Amino acid sequence: MTEDTIERTFIAFKPDAVQRGIMGEIMHRFERAGLRVAALKMVQATDNILEEHYSEHVDKDFYEGLASFMKEGPIVAGVLEGVNAVENVRKLVGETEPRSAMPGTIRGDFTHMSYEHADEKGVAVKNVIHASGNPEEAEEEVGIWFDEDEIHDYERVDEYHIA
Ligand code: CMP
Repeated sequence: MTEDTIERTFIAFKPDAVQRGIMGEIMHRFERAGLRVAALKMVQATDNILEEHYSEHVDKDFYEGLASFMKEGPIVAGVLEGVNAVENVRKLVGETEPRSAMPGTIRGDFTHMSYEHADEKGVAVKNVIHASGNPEEAEEEVGIWFDEDEIHDYERVDEYHIA
């Protein structure tokens, strides 16, 4: 995919998705929507990479809980490509707070926690997946987690109909 209208976005299956064994079910939703998996790898997050990735949250009260949750086990980082991929992936993922995420979205179907509950327990909201919020963030996050030679170009056989 090389057209100008094709976007890249960054996703990460958080440790709760890996530990619950629901990575396949989540990835299936992206694949059936026609989004192309351009990169995928299992990694153990470090403090340095998390501080870079979550730079806008580092000073927030929940950051410590968020960092320790994200280091609880390996995550699976990925790059998805497609038409308006950032917007489309966020639509499939749903609201950040599981409580507000609509049924049919990934977070709505697999999680239900509230910010209030997470904050009371002093933990991060476990919402199974991260997805970039806008194209600028996507470019930055892809660059934080991937080298360009880890991102692959190939044709999906259904691109004729979907992208
Ligand atoms: P994510 O989309 O990865 O972006 C930042 C993450 O911080 C978010 O998902 C949640 O996992 C977590 N988070 C955001 N706000 C709160 C909050 N108020 N309390 C606990 N965790 C939060």
